[in-house]
Amino acid sequence: MGQDMTTRYHEVYAGWKNDPEGFWREAAKAIDWVKPPDVIFDADLGVYGRWFPDATCNTCFNALDRHADGGRGEQPALIYDSPVTNSVQVFTYAQMRDEVATLAAVIAGMGIGKGDRVIIYMPMVPEAAFAMLACARLGAIHSVVFGGFAPKELATRIDDCQPKLVMAASCGIETTRVIAYKPLLDEAIEIAKHKPEACLILQRPQGVASMVAGRDHDWAESVAAAKAKGVSAACVTLAATDPLYILYTSGTTGVPKGVVRDHGGHMVALRWSMANHFGIAPGEVFWAASDVGWVVGHSYIVYGPLIHGATAVLYEGKPVGTPDAGAYWRVIEQHKVVTLFTAPTAFRAIRKEDPAAKLLPKYDLSQFRALFLAGERADPDTLVWAEQSLKVPVIDHWWQTETGWPMVGNPIGLGLLPIKHGSPSVPMPGFAIAAVDEAGHEVKVGAMGSIVAKMPLPPGALPTLWQNDERFKESYLSEFPGYYKTADAGFIDADGYVYIMGRTDDIINVAGHRLSTGGMEEVLASHPDVAECAVVGIKDALKGEQPCGFVVLKFGVNKPTEQVERELVALVREKIGPVASFKLAFVIQRLPKTRSGKILRSTIKKIADHDAWIMPATIDDPAILGEIEAALRGRGI
Ligand code: COA
Ligand code: AMP
Repeated sequence: MGQDMTTRYHEVYAGWKNDPEGFWREAAKAIDWVKPPDVIFDADLGVYGRWFPDATCNTCFNALDRHADGGRGEQPALIYDSPVTNSVQVFTYAQMRDEVATLAAVIAGMGIGKGDRVIIYMPMVPEAAFAMLACARLGAIHSVVFGGFAPKELATRIDDCQPKLVMAASCGIETTRVIAYKPLLDEAIEIAKHKPEACLILQRPQGVASMVAGRDHDWAESVAAAKAKGVSAACVTLAATDPLYILYTSGTTGVPKGVVRDHGGHMVALRWSMANHFGIAPGEVFWAASDVGWVVGHSYIVYGPLIHGATAVLYEGKPVGTPDAGAYWRVIEQHKVVTLFTAPTAFRAIRKEDPAAKLLPKYDLSQFRALFLAGERADPDTLVWAEQSLKVPVIDHWWQTETGWPMVGNPIGLGLLPIKHGSPSVPMPGFAIAAVDEAGHEVKVGAMGSIVAKMPLPPGALPTLWQNDERFKESYLSEFPGYYKTADAGFIDADGYVYIMGRTDDIINVAGHRLSTGGMEEVLASHPDVAECAVVGIKDALKGEQPCGFVVLKFGVNKPTEQVERELVALVREKIGPVASFKLAFVIQRLPKTRSGKILRSTIKKIADHDAWIMPATIDDPAILGEIEAALRGRGI
């Protein structure tokens, strides 16, 4: 393929490569600083250097006040669309600033200030976004925990970041089921060693929670009292390098990694990506159909669109079942969404219910320009179906919780590059991506390798893990010196297009949710009847992957195997949460291993996926793989 002259991508990327600091100095001008940066990057600070170390700013100011006072006061900032409660609510920039300033005053009154941690455990309600921004306003560090996680997972996060305050809602609504969040929170606090001083609880009428005297405060009453008194909190001046949030993500053990995001670099990177990668102009409506509990929700439901002066949609519903597979089209039409960002699994769900996209012509999507997909590999089948149904560019892009914004994508704002199905396209400025072998040498064009990014990481990417520089170095920087290890494997073609084929560690992607099979193995191993176990991610037509567990029981256990299997499914749900989607457990006689005792997980996966496999030369007993195959086929897998 020759160079496409209709896009500025090549010129912009080369511009960054030639002068990274100049590139980010220019990009930083799109942000309102208290003190603009003189120093762009200082390689001697932090683990690998820090961006904008002498600048000061406030993210909430950039997300709200700047627009509220700068001519966008009457423009919708946030559209809350909730088919599960049958309601739509619009907040202008002026209204949202006032809501957030009041809420910030409420939590400041509870003793929250700069550097304090606040856990947010909430469903997709506007107050979740207000809570994040109220923390940002004060310089408190929020940590949003996804509602689908169980108390134990919440407790682990409470113990790691030691919040002074938890902001939570009484319940979430999953299609038609009301999920009581408050008892999960109470249990988490019970389990956790660290005890937060206070909880601010948003009572939802669908499921009112009981309150713990002395600890729990009613959200609406507290906000109403603050409004009656006319109190509100101003934006606190912060260093660009101060932490804005911690977001926990699955690592290779049961202990999640606390990804840290700073204020300054994050704002600069998000604003650049909104305009150039997503091609959004301030004032337009951008919808990321994700959850505030994930990085997509942080970057592109809340911070990105607001910092950019766009209108964000916060959707409390599903792609199907709320009420049907036309839900996304309804939202796009009703709120004049120009660009949607979601995970491929959502489109697989829509396609399954409405294969011929018959519901689509009922809606006017004339202003809709592009669909962005990320979070898991976009299978070309789904991608083509979306392209043919929507008749707009469907753009795969690749990034991680750690990076905060796309590493590889197709920058529609600079002019779209040709789309190649199966590839998220090309590296964004800030990221020099390579495929390397085990020794860290770049592999040949088209050859599989570990996908890495040349250090330093750009603004917006994590500077470290929360209070754990060592784990940061060990997880990401030590294996390939000079590079950041993404733990994804793939290849780069002759046109520089990157292909991401899978993880090199034990992380799996279930319905776009990142989960650790190692974490699930820890749970299975904790069952009193289990001697040893293995969990692998196997193909799933809807969710991309689903976890599948194999256990060998301790000698002498004579319970019916179905009972143990049911207990194991229940145990993962109890310890990790429904989000794990752990529904397949097999009690087997023995696990396939190498002669040195390593469990052959990748061979088990190939058998489950009906992929070609060869008998590993080092296998201890070849007959065991036949037993695994029989067990899987016995259940129609
Ligand atoms: N609070 C409580 N429980 C939750 C939850 C939340 N916020 N989110 C999900 N769950 C529960 C679900 O109800 C489900 O429970 P179940 O096992 O009792 O049915 C379980 O966790 C698994 O959820 P999920 O894997 O999402 O399956 P699903 O069948 O509910 O929905 C999709 C499947 C594809 C429709 C859904 O995953 C989806 O819309 N995904 C696309 C968007 C997205 O979330 N992307 C994330 C990253 S960008
Ligand atoms: P998360 O941190 O939850 O965003 O998950 C990041 C991981 O999801 C990546 O390391 C990839 O394994 C996977 N992923 C995200 N986007 C893509 C994509 N577009 N193509 C392939 N894999 C992806």
